[in-house]
Amino acid sequence: MTSAHAPAVLAIYQAGLDSGDASFETTAPCWRTWDATHAAQHRFVAVDQHGRVLGWVAVSAVSSRCVYAGVVEHSVYVDPAAGRRGVGLALLQALIASTEAAGIWTIQSGIFPENTASAVLHERAGFRRVGVRERIGAHHGRWRDVVLIERRSTRVGSGG
Ligand SMILES: CC(C)(COP(=O)(O)OP(=O)(O)OC[C@H]1O[C@@H](n2cnc3c(N)ncnc32)[C@H](O)[C@@H]1OP(=O)(O)O)[C@@H](O)C(=O)NCCC(=O)NCCS
Repeated sequence: MTSAHAPAVLAIYQAGLDSGDASFETTAPCWRTWDATHAAQHRFVAVDQHGRVLGWVAVSAVSSRCVYAGVVEHSVYVDPAAGRRGVGLALLQALIASTEAAGIWTIQSGIFPENTASAVLHERAGFRRVGVRERIGAHHGRWRDVVLIERRSTRVGSGG
């Protein structure tokens, strides 16, 4: 992903937010803010043969504590017009390869229970359901649960 992809990345982000089941966020930030809050080395776009962006994946740090240096929180968003073609799975696989190569051992996220597509996609990519945080935040005036999911690498940091 480069800054040339910024308008498409933010438009796809906004389309996902508009679905109502992707995030507590309701408005995509400006590129400067998005860029500053996502790790440069673990952000990817999927593009078609014309270079059009179909989707993106990126991560943010979860903590500044050393013990959690290998734990990141990810986001994955696919253009609704490009859904169910394997784009999301390919992006997650690229992210898993990239983060494992960099010594990151856990990728985590929170998803709304209603987001079946995301739940099934992440299960396919090797994520497990950790548990449900009940009424953890309000979204458009409604208190909503969030399902915590994570993928623990079997290759990184398992030696004890
Ligand atoms: C969730 C999302 C990323 C899935 O992306 P995608 O490119 O459509 O997913 P894929 O085509 O790679 O699907 C991979 C597998 O996930 C599952 N899946 C994907 N969409 C599904 C749906 N709508 N219903 C049920 N299962 C679904 C299927 O098992 C699918 O494999 P299959 O098509 O061979 O059966 C996409 O719907 C999206 O961007 N949604 C809005 C943003 C969002 O919610 N992001 C996640 C925030 S946690």
